[in-house]
Amino acid sequence: MNKESIISQTKEFAYQHLHDDASGHDWWHIHRVTNIAHKIAVIENADLFLCEMAALLHDIADEKLNTSEEVGIKKVRDFLLSVNVDNEYVSKILEIITTMSFKGGGQPPMKTLEGMIVQDADRLDAMGAIGIARTFAYSGAKNQLIYHPDIKPAEKMDADQYRKRKSTAINHFYEKLFKLKELMNTEMGKKMAESRHLYMKEYIETFFNEWEMK
Ligand code: ADP
Ligand code: NI
Repeated sequence: MNKESIISQTKEFAYQHLHDDASGHDWWHIHRVTNIAHKIAVIENADLFLCEMAALLHDIADEKLNTSEEVGIKKVRDFLLSVNVDNEYVSKILEIITTMSFKGGGQPPMKTLEGMIVQDADRLDAMGAIGIARTFAYSGAKNQLIYHPDIKPAEKMDADQYRKRKSTAINHFYEKLFKLKELMNTEMGKKMAESRHLYMKEYIETFFNEWEMK
């Protein structure tokens, strides 16, 4: 197995699938998540190849981008086999990408260190200045308002209801983004989440100050 060649073919595969997505899953999201995962993986002494591959492929099977989750998973499996990834790695990569989404608010926890790392990296990219930008981009793509005083954040909702519901961009901070800090798995992830969390808090505070003309 030539890991370097596989990584570069996987980058190309991910780029081809996601480069024109405008709902927050574009290639640069994948690029950033892969870099964050790599950085954490070095510190945690984790399997770099597994982290990088799972990060590169983590959104390809997303049900939003496929007719069903099964179709998406098959697409990833077929690709991995076509570039001669060992069976053991195919299973490990698929295990990570099928269990890491926010669905269920982080339950059940990831089984492997590499899964924890890629999940942290994906969550970190949903936070901070970039997370704010992605939230408004996603909201715009879904025709959601920026904010509406009468549309309150959802308390508890299953993943399907959550995805189908029309909410507002500002609600998303309360429904997901402010919860991410507590869900970090690794020490490095926790550390990186701190400043991103604070920045989002400040942003929302300023947003409401302006809204109320304070
Ligand atoms: P990922 O698994 O990469 O975080 P998601 O599909 O959950 O992908 O979300 C893509 C981006 O859009 C993320 O930045 C996320 O916070 C944001 N997002 C997801 N759902 C909503 C929503 N209902 N309203 C606003 N932004 C959202
Ligand atoms: Ni992602």
